Amino acid sequence: MEHKRNAILDLGNGEPPLEFPILAGTMGPEVVDIRTLYKRGRVFTYDPGFMSTASSSSSITFIDGDKGILLYRGYPIEQLAKQCDFMEVCYLLMNGELPNIAQKASFDKTIKDHTMVHEQLARFYTGFRRDAHPMAVMVGVVGALSAFYHDAMDISDAAHRELSAVRLVAKLPTITAMAYKYNIGQPFMYPRNNLNYAENFLHMMFATPAEEYRSNPVLARALDRILILHADHEQNASTSTVRLAGSTGANPFACISAGIACLWGPAHGGANEACLNMLEEIGDESRIGEYIARAKDPDDPFRLMGFGHRVYRNFDPRATLMRETCHEVLNELGLRDDRLFKLALKLEKIALEDEYFISKKLYPNVDFYSGIVQRALGIPVSMFTAIFTMARTVGWVAQWSEMIADPEYKIGRPRQLYTGAATRDVIPIASRL
Ligand code: SDX
Repeated sequence: MEHKRNAILDLGNGEPPLEFPILAGTMGPEVVDIRTLYKRGRVFTYDPGFMSTASSSSSITFIDGDKGILLYRGYPIEQLAKQCDFMEVCYLLMNGELPNIAQKASFDKTIKDHTMVHEQLARFYTGFRRDAHPMAVMVGVVGALSAFYHDAMDISDAAHRELSAVRLVAKLPTITAMAYKYNIGQPFMYPRNNLNYAENFLHMMFATPAEEYRSNPVLARALDRILILHADHEQNASTSTVRLAGSTGANPFACISAGIACLWGPAHGGANEACLNMLEEIGDESRIGEYIARAKDPDDPFRLMGFGHRVYRNFDPRATLMRETCHEVLNELGLRDDRLFKLALKLEKIALEDEYFISKKLYPNVDFYSGIVQRALGIPVSMFTAIFTMARTVGWVAQWSEMIADPEYKIGRPRQLYTGAATRDVIPIASRL
């Protein structure tokens, strides 16, 4: 961080103005370092939703919302999605550099050595109703991992952090597929370490003990790309949740479980499920106008799922790549006339020509097409956010580990603007009106 100049703040209270350093990172907006504001000025800043707040410094992911740029450790998402596989991207996010051939092979083996879960973990699933939402299962089972790994829970030990990160990246596909198998009443399938990450997940999802299963390489590659596109995204709500939980010293499994719970919301990772349900509800191109009107109606809480983003005020580069993946998968499956895909293309076109969406800079986000691709892969709608969870786990553990390794990190404890009752005395109940 470079100290560029100072900001001057005059609080209008007759006291001399306060000076605060303006810091610059590698790219993106500079920040005003206000860490001493309350101590010196006895005031807080006020920023609900953190629209103008940098909660941390990080070297992992960079987003330029105006230009539609997304970089993982400096590499454009477009290049990573086309030239790398998810394991390379995991290595990059966790270690800061892309692996060479030997490093990739070693990392692959390390992950594969941890793909199985403790046999007793399977018993946690039977406590859920078969029709439990997979995200309820994911929150519970991932949190329960804390009970199994007492051998590496000292978060101040870099080796323990690394092992926990590897365990989480390796076991999330197994846990996710188990949630699906439990939901449909089929036996759990063990991981197969002769398969790559995406192929192994498809195997655990769709294979049965009754017959051989081989995934379609085009579909496995499409899933691998979905995982890359969802791997990390700066300080989004669920990553901020993981960091805040981690700042208390909570174990990494509990922190990731908290992140899963946050991602579940329809305004965040739950949007891909909500988007596909919305497309099914719209049903036909003739009804698009009705839903666009509802999205624009200030008195109607309905929002166009898969549109808009807190940061992107231009195209979400992931949405563009996801649309390409959609074309590839639907062509491979002979579904180019897929009803929902054609509906989504039409909805996108109409929305992007509508003044409301143009003026508010509302573009399709990563969730707009991901549901259509996943549905074409045979993944049920209720599993979409669980797939997002599986992908984002590497981003969460990379951000968590970066924070814990930062000697400056402190427990996160925001303050508030209090608008409640002023101090008053309790009246005995007998005297209350
Ligand atoms: C993800 O943060 C991340 O990086 C998240 C994510 C990641 O990888 O981690 O990218 C993943 O969560 C993508 C976003 C998925 N969510 C959705 O698709 C749900 C629909 N989108 C919205 O709910 C909304 O756009 C948000 C939540 C994504 C962003 O909301 P903001 O930044 O708080 O913006 P806002 O709600 O203040 O909206 C600004 C204006 C409002 O109108 P006015 O009050 O100014 O009149 O735009 C309108 C909103 O009503 N608006 C929409 C809209 N999104 C915003 N109107 C209709 N449809 C929409 N989808």
